[in-house]
Amino acid sequence: MPSADRYRIMGHIYDILASLYSGFQIPKCKEAMLGHLKPDDEAIFVGVGHGEEARKGAELGARVTVVDLSETMLDKCRNTLDGCNFKHPVSYIHDDILNLSPDNHQYDYVFANFFLNVFPREQMDRVVRHLAELTKPGGHVIVGDFAFPEGNIFARAFKHLYWYIAVSLFVLITRNAFHDIYNYPEYLKKYGLQVTEIKHFRVLGVKLFWSVLARKNLEG
Ligand SMILES: C[S@@+](CC[C@H](N)C(=O)[O-])C[C@H]1O[C@@H](n2cnc3c(N)ncnc32)[C@H](O)[C@@H]1O
Repeated sequence: MPSADRYRIMGHIYDILASLYSGFQIPKCKEAMLGHLKPDDEAIFVGVGHGEEARKGAELGARVTVVDLSETMLDKCRNTLDGCNFKHPVSYIHDDILNLSPDNHQYDYVFANFFLNVFPREQMDRVVRHLAELTKPGGHVIVGDFAFPEGNIFARAFKHLYWYIAVSLFVLITRNAFHDIYNYPEYLKKYGLQVTEIKHFRVLGVKLFWSVLARKNLEG
């Protein structure tokens, strides 16, 4: 049984807030790797939120599953997808991602956009491992999120400040974990995935967001 809905309030304004806070770079980041999807590919969008990128994935002819622990977010996603005519119907799952068993189903593409940052480090590590397990051999995990701070001292300071403003708001409203910016490629590699592409998204010339594409080897 899913726990209390932490996005009951934030769920209503999440997308517009993220778009405004990022100068519309977050929506671009979330859609950055959709071009890899082919018709009939199986794609899962974990912690889907409002689901704009899930809609675009389904429009490309992929078999889309969306998962969210928040009923509010899943309702928003239904609103986004309602009335669309896709090649394959979208499957909705209202549950904790950790309750999905890789023994039941694996996916060609696992999209984790602005999802892993909600967890404390140890749990994030466990969720990355789980996402790798949910991926078919030869399939891909995509992580769109705040980019790990690199560059000169001013760029790094700006990235930290920008992140801590965002995370503080989410700690207060949705009880997300308070932590530093995670270096997702490290964790993806730890679980046997090979990072094959990274796209950056800038605000005021600083690389604040990235979309990381990582491939699971064929031996699984
Ligand atoms: C920061 S929001 C990001 C939403 C969306 N991916 C986006 O980028 O707009 C994180 C989402 O993950 C969901 N979530 C948090 N923990 C989860 C879990 N254990 N299993 C499934 N969804 C979860 C939240 O309900 C929320 O919708």
